[in-house]
Amino acid sequence: MRTPLEGRLGVIREGCVISVGVIGCGHWGPNHVRVFSQLADSCCLMCADVDEGRLKAVAAMFPSIKAVKDYRAILQDPAVDAVCIAVPTRAHYAVAREALAAGKHVLCEKPLAMTPEECAALEALALKAGRILMVGHVFVFNAGIRWMKACIDSGEIGRIYYAHSERTNLGPFRYDVNALWDLAPHDIAIFDFLFSGAALSTSARGLKCLGNSLEDLAFATLDYPEGKLANLHVSWADPRKVRQITIVGEKKMLVWDDLDPMGAVKVYDKSVERTSKYYESYGEFQLLSREGSIIIPKISLAEPLKAQGQYFIECIQSGRPPVLADARRGAQVVRTLAAIQRSMDQNGSLVGV
Ligand SMILES: NC(=O)c1ccc[n+]([C@@H]2O[C@H](COP(=O)([O-])OP(=O)(O)OC[C@H]3O[C@@H](n4cnc5c(N)ncnc54)[C@H](O)[C@@H]3O)[C@@H](O)[C@H]2O)c1
Repeated sequence: MRTPLEGRLGVIREGCVISVGVIGCGHWGPNHVRVFSQLADSCCLMCADVDEGRLKAVAAMFPSIKAVKDYRAILQDPAVDAVCIAVPTRAHYAVAREALAAGKHVLCEKPLAMTPEECAALEALALKAGRILMVGHVFVFNAGIRWMKACIDSGEIGRIYYAHSERTNLGPFRYDVNALWDLAPHDIAIFDFLFSGAALSTSARGLKCLGNSLEDLAFATLDYPEGKLANLHVSWADPRKVRQITIVGEKKMLVWDDLDPMGAVKVYDKSVERTSKYYESYGEFQLLSREGSIIIPKISLAEPLKAQGQYFIECIQSGRPPVLADARRGAQVVRTLAAIQRSMDQNGSLVGV
């Protein structure tokens, strides 16, 4: 039974089931259909795709869901409260804008749009319409990443010197955006989350090695506040599937490997100590490595996409803004991507974010 409540974000129905429509049912969209069908407080009523083959495939997997070719049928249906957008990246902005204008709450896949201005326009539209707008920065809902954030914030690893991430595989290839815009939104969103802020500048190189007009890989170095350096390597032209991040702190070091069956996070109780023992007269230090244990913390696993969907639904129900992945954070990631792209276009020159 739905109980209408007037809230800051418009009409909010606390404790009711939120009905969702998924737009775009290619490789990724069906995962959202599954998640919103499984969560206790949501259901997936409809899905849309311009490709008949994809519609048939989703209809076979989820026979009770109404599958339509034109997503406007979802936007026009008053029974649908929210939409999840999983169309190709360049179409995110137009579809999200229409959905917000139609009064739907929106969860849009990453990156939110192709320019910071588009992100700002979507944020303004959501605010005006009193609707939730959230971006699918799924890794901020990853239990291992959340554990590392808590560890960093507790001061356990001390001041962070640098971080380094690797996100590589052979494919899948895209034809609408390059490997930077496809893969790096994840790493930038993770760095922004872990470091509680945005990058200030960047220097990056990319390469178009597979014969298309798009970069198939990128190496980017990002300067974060307080001297933290972060480096990311993304590629869809690499022999191995790797999803790893290393964070080197003054007191300890963290390694996250999303594909390690032993446990995604390892805490290395290792650091470098400085002693002036032998160098007193020169005011210099001798560096000594301190080798301690390697700990694999027990972290309860939950599917990040489900945790993200749950958070979206809770934000709609409660009227709380989705601060973990709101339009401001989406715009921050897009601003950083645009700066990396500018630096790549200028053969690696230092560019402000
Ligand atoms: N969070 C993650 O880990 C993750 C993983 C994969 C993809 N994604 C994101 O999800 C989005 C989709 O990626 P994908 O791999 O599924 O791509 P895809 O190309 O496999 O699927 C996109 C689908 O959208 C459909 N489509 C295009 N225009 C449409 C329109 N106007 N109306 C309805 N349907 C339309 C296409 O026919 C296609 O089936 C991208 O933004 C991508 O960045 C996120």
